[in-house]
Amino acid sequence: MCGIVGYIGNRQASPIIISGLRRLEYRGYDSAGVCVVDSEKLKINKKAGKVADLENGFDLMALKGTLGVGHTRWATHGVPNDVNAHPHTDMSGSIALIHNGIIENYLTIRKKLVNAGYTFRSETDSEVLAVFIGMLYDTIGDLETSVRTALSEVEGTFGIVVVSTYDPDLLIAARRGSPLILGVGTDEYIVASDAAAIIAHTRQVIYLQENEMAVVRRSGYVTKTIHNEETSGNIEEISFELDQIEKGGFPHFMLKEIYEQPITFRDGFRGRLRIDEGNVRLGGLSKVYEQLSTAKRIIITACGTSWHAALVGEYLIEQLARIPVEVEYASEFRYRNPIINPDDVVIAISQSGETADTLAAIREAKTRGATVLGMVNVVGSSIARETDAGVYIHAGPEIGVASTKAFTSQLCILTQFAVYLGRMRHLSADAGREIAQGLAEIPDHIQTILDQSESIRQIAQQYSGVSNFLYLGRGYNFPVALEGALKLKEISYIHAEGYPAAEMKHGPIALIDENMPVVFIAPKDEIYDKVRSNIEEVRARNGQVIAIASSRDSRISDAANHVIYIPETLPMLTPILASIPLQLLAYFVAVDRGCNVDMPRNLAKSVTVE
Ligand code: AGP
Ligand code: GLU
Repeated sequence: MCGIVGYIGNRQASPIIISGLRRLEYRGYDSAGVCVVDSEKLKINKKAGKVADLENGFDLMALKGTLGVGHTRWATHGVPNDVNAHPHTDMSGSIALIHNGIIENYLTIRKKLVNAGYTFRSETDSEVLAVFIGMLYDTIGDLETSVRTALSEVEGTFGIVVVSTYDPDLLIAARRGSPLILGVGTDEYIVASDAAAIIAHTRQVIYLQENEMAVVRRSGYVTKTIHNEETSGNIEEISFELDQIEKGGFPHFMLKEIYEQPITFRDGFRGRLRIDEGNVRLGGLSKVYEQLSTAKRIIITACGTSWHAALVGEYLIEQLARIPVEVEYASEFRYRNPIINPDDVVIAISQSGETADTLAAIREAKTRGATVLGMVNVVGSSIARETDAGVYIHAGPEIGVASTKAFTSQLCILTQFAVYLGRMRHLSADAGREIAQGLAEIPDHIQTILDQSESIRQIAQQYSGVSNFLYLGRGYNFPVALEGALKLKEISYIHAEGYPAAEMKHGPIALIDENMPVVFIAPKDEIYDKVRSNIEEVRARNGQVIAIASSRDSRISDAANHVIYIPETLPMLTPILASIPLQLLAYFVAVDRGCNVDMPRNLAKSVTVE
């Protein structure tokens, strides 16, 4: 997702905007730009590439002015080049706009503007909005009304910030479908798409709601709907600390986040696990207790890594609570006229809480009368706000584009949720106690795996030159195979596929030869012997086997070329432990290949467009 920063106050805007954009770099982008209102002029510098490229050969500090905007673009309309980079201006060059999202009817509006004699420089949908606002200003003569009028005609999604030379004491921000936060300082305001760009200046923020705008002057601000009805604009406090969004001595955020997992996992069950009672307290769900105890079916919807966590959730909930569960890609769910009954519970899982498809899926479920819950990491995010109830996963800010700690925290919550539902039905206190106890031991087990990272690095180095990888697992660990493969392809660009181990025989086995590393997730559980046979099948075809195995498995090294041991735990908790070495394996392979681990090509941390 792109990054948005806007500043109005009494300090120089450009250093604040640039440092804000750097804080948002992790979200992924292809070009960047800054505009400062400098006396009577808009001073703009924008370029394809990184924020650092903006500064190359240009003294950004020379952009003098205390009102400005900055943007990192993730191109949807038009290639990433200097002209298409934001900010965009109206035809007179007096109004500057930055935009996140997609203006779906931009062609219609553009045509209207072209017929009226307006011209365009870029291929973007965003410039159309800037020019449109400019055209309206020419007749209305008031920026706020012009912005509102333009937005009422726009279809699609936007997070926008607008400044102009017409009024150097005015910044306007508005959102629909893209997050926007107003940081409230003393005589200064920072608007951004992510609290990470604000926290160095103030902790007091207003999360703008759907179709809400902020009209900000140095002397104060108003929040209102884009239809001009005033809103309350509640001030909230940012829930994380500055050091949580810094690397803290690690070479990459991804590695830092992998290493944080003993703590983040514990944060996911702290205050929730009731080991003695063999139960779990999930305060955020108390108001939907009734609906949960009578739910006939659970539908979990998510994308990417969160979808993999949902698959593990399906196994857990069906096993412990005996409620049928369906897991749906949010992007499919929203467009396929799904059957949803009022006694269904729909759960959205999302790290960011802003994924456009997941958000649209819950809106669809809501209109069809289901109870909608969220399992979200980012506090105050759109999904957290739009669901009936939910559970925060408390993994803290996740900056690496490849999700790691959020995944294990999602599994932490899903396991507790399954116990919670199970105990409402027929799961015994003893069984609940065993799982709760098992969860409580996980942080130490994760640490034991992290302590083996050097040997995982050595394995990774041997395979960093290959072109393909296969990941196989069964039962609870089939989704982990999918997640392991996703991690590798995201950050190392090696083609990798995850499969249920037994499905290998139905196709992928044709790929196996001495150049094909196959990662098996093979903990000692009830299907171990079956997986073991699948390993033999790969070995018989000269495939290279990397096995993730239980520490008490003394026989596995006969069959595998490499073994990474994970501590003993309950079978249903093995996905949590098995995912740690797979994260490290992907990380070390990517580093060895010289890839940009934290900002892999083409990817954005949070996908707020369809
Ligand atoms: C994870 O490594 C990915 N970058 C991606 O698949 C991600 O999980 C997906 O976009 C969903 O994001 P969310 O959890 O923020 O909704
Ligand atoms: N659709 C706009 C563009 O392509 C905005 C993309 C973004 O969100 O960065 O410029």
